[in-house]
Amino acid sequence: MKGIILAGGSGTRLHPLTKVTSKQLLPVYNQPMIYFPLNTLLKAGIRDILIIVAPEHSGDFVNLLGSGKQFGARFAYEVQDHPEGLAQAYLIAADFIGDESVAMILGDNIFTHDFGPAVRSFKSGATVFAKQVPDAQRFGVIEFGQGNTVLSIEEKPAKPKSNFAQVGFYIFDNRVIEFARNLKPSKRGELEIVDLGNIYLKNKELHAEVLEGDWIDAGTFESLYRAATVVREKDLGIDMDAYRVHVEIKNVKKPMAM
Ligand code: G1P
Repeated sequence: MKGIILAGGSGTRLHPLTKVTSKQLLPVYNQPMIYFPLNTLLKAGIRDILIIVAPEHSGDFVNLLGSGKQFGARFAYEVQDHPEGLAQAYLIAADFIGDESVAMILGDNIFTHDFGPAVRSFKSGATVFAKQVPDAQRFGVIEFGQGNTVLSIEEKPAKPKSNFAQVGFYIFDNRVIEFARNLKPSKRGELEIVDLGNIYLKNKELHAEVLEGDWIDAGTFESLYRAATVVREKDLGIDMDAYRVHVEIKNVKKPMAM
């Protein structure tokens, strides 16, 4: 399975912090924000990762993250010229995804949940994740029926049908590229990730899991502040030493070139 970190956008809700840098490069306690979603993908066993960035800051992301070797992974980069919705990521990433399935995480989402089991057991269709929140109208909202079946998903509804937000981690099979190509922009002019989820829902191929642990979308001042406290209390950052050891072991095992 391939991985995507979507780290484009202009972060206007965090002005003036994001006037000269990207939201996903801002510090969250002791590490840059993007380290947290990166860690989430790495911990889930995903090693081939595409990082989608805004043109103004693309060089900064490459300087920070490099080839991925230091994390025991392989990184590729694509520029999102204009942010036109989360589902646009699958158009930008089409070549990178090839014929595989894909897990995408938003560059400002911080989780303590282990997505490894969901990634490893994924076969086809779509798997999305939900978390109960007090302010569901800020998010995509998942309405559950009996036995965790999904009845509906709506983007930022004025009157949410439940208090389950759809969090920023999505697993789709390869058909997502085709579905994204056929999407029409929503009323707010974006290619919506909930519209992709709704295609799978209509085909009865959408599976939703309720998350364990913390989830923070660190895109506002309040949530950025809360993210820093959670990261500090739970020691959530990337353990660089662990990855360095991983790289060394891999290098030792590599057969000598003849
Ligand atoms: C986006 C998605 C929304 C999702 C949220 C999670 O919203 O559109 O469905 O619930 O991420 O972080 P945004 O934060 O870009 O407004």
